[in-house]
Amino acid sequence: MSLTTPAVVTVTGAAGQIGYALAFRIASGQLLGPDTPVRLRMLEIPPAVKAAEGVAMELDDCAFPLLDGIDITDDAAAAFDGVNVALLVGARPRTKGMERGDLLSANGGIFGPQGAAINAGAADDVRVLVVGNPANTNAYIASSHAPDVPADRFTAMTRLDHNRALAQLRQRTGAAIDDIARLAIWGNHSATQYPDLTHATIGGRPALEVVGDDAWVRDTFIPTVAKRGAAIIEARGASSAASAANAAIDHVHTWVRGTPADDWTSAGVVSDGSYGVPEGLISSFPVTAAGGVYTIVPGLDVDEFSRERIDASVAELVEEREAVRALGLV
Ligand code: NAD
Ligand code: LMR
Repeated sequence: MSLTTPAVVTVTGAAGQIGYALAFRIASGQLLGPDTPVRLRMLEIPPAVKAAEGVAMELDDCAFPLLDGIDITDDAAAAFDGVNVALLVGARPRTKGMERGDLLSANGGIFGPQGAAINAGAADDVRVLVVGNPANTNAYIASSHAPDVPADRFTAMTRLDHNRALAQLRQRTGAAIDDIARLAIWGNHSATQYPDLTHATIGGRPALEVVGDDAWVRDTFIPTVAKRGAAIIEARGASSAASAANAAIDHVHTWVRGTPADDWTSAGVVSDGSYGVPEGLISSFPVTAAGGVYTIVPGLDVDEFSRERIDASVAELVEEREAVRALGLV
């Protein structure tokens, strides 16, 4: 798709860990490509505005040719006025022992007002990626407050899970990342997610055949990918940041630039009822991108094991939807 230039890119929580890892890559052109100048907007809460100003000073000092300007604000209306790409990162991360869903009451309240501000002021071509956890349900909340913005413009990040799955497969098989295709993450960005190898190929051969060990897939691959966020928190004492920023760059870059002809990726997108996922939920699916639109890959066979896994993760999304309804967030 072609973007207005300079493209207005808004990052919420820009002074946080992920924001810091994201800003420089956006400004250097890695988000939208080398031909698209960017105006970077940073939305922060008042106590973090000064830190955001420090990030802006560093951005200045990089002298990025594509960086057309920087705005810093604590006002959502100003942050999303004319926005083309909105990266909703600002939210509390979980700490050791928490599940991402535990953040619902802490973070859910952020996304309604931001959705409303996007509804009021965003550019017609706006595209929104929610990173703040629980990402799928926060995207659902934001979208619910933006009735004038097509629901398919609100997405949630499961690209980090997709990339983690690629990495695990490379470690196991020694394959090059570029030789692995058609991996899929289904469901929620949570421990219930289903990293699916049943359609994946490695160098054109079925991945399951190359791996040759169903027990590894079930007992090692799936839980390692699904629980990687917790493992990073355990090791680093803080949740993943650079890899999350990298995945956000990948998600938007693919959305705008498209997927290769013979491959797909994974993203949390609004369900159209495909694969038995209730319409309106924001669930991860295998998706292709073309012309600035993510499309759920149609017509895949879903075996019994996959069916159970997808249903379990979707049931959690339904519960989260009920919880935010009960909290009055939608
Ligand atoms: P962080 O605490 O380092 O930064 C969060 C920033 O958001 C802070 O600077 C804070 O001031 C700001 N913020 C809080 N409320 C805000 C609001 N209403 N408006 C604007 N800014 C606000 O956290 P982080 O490590 O950058 O993580 C951010 C979020 O991303 C967390 O919820 C984390 O769990 C999530 N995350 C998601 C994924 C994913 O794959 N979807 C991966 C990693 C992290
Ligand atoms: C991740 O997957 O690393 C993030 O969602 C952070 C977390 O809480 O796991």
